[in-house]
Parts: sequence; structure tokens; C-alpha cells
Amino acid sequence: MTKMVIKGTGRYLPERVVTNDDLTKIMDTTDEWIQQRTGIEERRWVPEEGNVGASDLGLEASKIALSRAGWEPKDLDLIIFGTLSPDLFFPGSGCLLQSKLGLKSTPALDIRQQCTGFLYGMEIADAYIKSGYASRILLVGAEVHSTGIEMATRGRDVTVIFGDGAGAVCLEGVETDENVGVLATSLHAQGDHAEALMVEIPASRISPTRVTHEHLDEGRQWPKMDGRNIFKLAVKRLPEVSQTVLDKAGLTIDDIDMVIPHQANLRINQFFQKSMNIPDEKIFNNIQKYGNTTAGTIPIALDEVIEQKLIPEEKSTLLFAGLGAGVTWGAMIFRFM
Ligand code: COA
Repeated sequence: MTKMVIKGTGRYLPERVVTNDDLTKIMDTTDEWIQQRTGIEERRWVPEEGNVGASDLGLEASKIALSRAGWEPKDLDLIIFGTLSPDLFFPGSGCLLQSKLGLKSTPALDIRQQCTGFLYGMEIADAYIKSGYASRILLVGAEVHSTGIEMATRGRDVTVIFGDGAGAVCLEGVETDENVGVLATSLHAQGDHAEALMVEIPASRISPTRVTHEHLDEGRQWPKMDGRNIFKLAVKRLPEVSQTVLDKAGLTIDDIDMVIPHQANLRINQFFQKSMNIPDEKIFNNIQKYGNTTAGTIPIALDEVIEQKLIPEEKSTLLFAGLGAGVTWGAMIFRFM
């Protein structure tokens, strides 16, 4: 049977470190508030000048993942790009990345799944590989949030939590009867909560023009978040969907070598850890250093887990889980070859 394996991972975080104290200079907040509520100590932002977009961060992460896989860009059958902060309103960042990789006709697909971009992307890649459509896929999760958040007290609930960064994985179909690759997935969306976390404009639903000076004056171009609602949904859905994939795979949490949750808030992940009885050494968090890099969080964390040799080199079993704007949520159990 065809199984999807990970051949290489990579990450790229911009060099510019922005501490909580740096944020206190541009809005009414404190290091104590941010650390207590979110666990975040610092995040990375792209340089103020240079027009660095999500595809540029994705390119750097991709180059590392491709070299670890031993692949050239021309070996790719498909690029899947997860982002909520695309370089352009359209076309998608996948097309821009494809060009930056020097490719001329390789298909490129953007997905708008926000914090579950990596989970949805993995499931799409697995389906393409199992259908025989593709055998080598580059999946990227990349965000440049810093140019799209409000640098003022009005936007502080959102601005303090988001960071810039990218992760990439090279995925390949292999023929094997071993129980490896994607063992179980459960993906969900509930559009009733779409406005609990959104950027409204430019919006095709607004007539007669999707963006006006008045909209900008009202600040409708900045993210708006009902943080409490998202928090409550996350602490309910993450354990629930993780249990679903464990049951589907016929495993228990003891069979998992490492849990890599989306990095939205350290407190959410602590609730999740407690309700699933996950020992400290089997859950990975790096939100303290990077904030929430949305589609980037899980592949960035995966790359660090591998680099720090926190999982066995062979046959390690990972649980990924996340919830974010949409709302969308999901979990996946993945076993390495
Ligand atoms: N610094 C200081 N005070 C802040 C602040 C900041 N950065 N952001 C909000 N506050 C204030 C609020 O204005 C409010 O003040 P008030 O009581 O005078 O009205 C107070 O802190 C409490 O705000 P609240 O929104 O209730 O805080 P919270 O405990 O819910 O924490 C979040 C806010 C955003 C940290 C939390 O709700 C959260 O993490 N939610 C989930 C978000 C998430 O996961 N988003 C991404 C999904 S991918």
C-alpha cells in the first residue's frame, strides 16, 4: 500500500526578536500580563523594510526541508501552501513560492485553514499521494503577521500573541505494508464561529466596494478576536478530537512519543495536557519564543523536535492537534518510517 512519509523538515524564523517589553513601548500592555495569560516571552517579526512576505519565509524553510530530503525543486509534483497572511490578496502564495523555487509549471495550491493549515495540508497531501496523483509534495505553513496587526492599544489582545515564521515538510509516497504514515485524522470546521476571529476587509461581501477609506478609519482591516470564546472552544475541542484519532488508530496516549499541539496560548496547551494526562516530556511547546505563527506552528515545532532528538529516530508516533479561525480544528496521528 502507498503510505505518506516525511522525508525532510525545515523552519525559518526571522532574526528580529521582539520582546514583550518592546511591545510596551507601542501599546498599553505589560510583560507580566502577556506571560501570565499566554506564556509568550518574545516573538519574531520580519524586518521593517524589505517587503518580506509569507512566500519569502516559506522559501527559506522549504530550501532546508528540500535539502534534508535530498530533493531538487524540480522533483516536486505539488506545492501546498497554508497561510492566512498571503503575500497578495490573490494569487496565492503557493504560486509565488513556486516561482521563487525556479519552477515553471509545477501545480501550487493555497489553503485558507489558518491554525489548522498544517493538519488540513497533511490530509490533502496524504489523499493526493494515495490517489496516485502525486508522489512528492512540499507542504508549507508560513505567516507574516507583523504587517497586519494593529500596533496600538486597541489591537493589543491580538497583537501580543502573533509572530512571523514558516515551517516546511517534504512528503513522499512509499510502498510498504508497515503501519506508518498517517494512522488517523479527524478534521472539522464550524462556520458559526467565523467572526470570533477574523480580518474583515477587503471583503467581497461588502458593497459596492470591498474597502473604503471609512473602513480603514474604523480599523476593520485589523484582526478581531473574541479571545474568551476561542479559548473555551480550544480547551473543549482539542482533547475531544485527540481522543477521536487515538480511538480511530486503536492507540492510547501512552503509545504516543510526542504530542505537538498548535501554539496559540500556553495556557490552552496546559489545559489540554492535563485533560489528556500527557507527561511533561511528551508534549512540545515553543510559543514562549515565537508566539502564534498560525499555519507555521506545527511544522516549526516538528522541525525543532527532530533537531533536538526528542523522539526515537525510527517508528516514532506523533499526535498533532490544533484549533483556530474558522473555527477549524483537528488532530492527526503520524508514524515515521
Ligand atoms: N495587555 C494588557 N491587557 C490586555 C491585553 C494586553 N495585551 N489584551 C487584553 N487586555 C485586557 C482587556 O482589555 C481586559 O481588560 P478589562 O477587564 O479592563 O476589560 C482584560 O485584559 C481581560 O481581557 P480578556 O480578553 O478577558 O483576557 P483573557 O484572559 O481572555 O486573555 C487572550 C486574552 C487573548 C490571551 C485569551 O483570551 C486567549 O488566548 N484566547 C485564545 C486566543 C487564541 O487562541 N487565538 C488564536 C487562535 S489560533
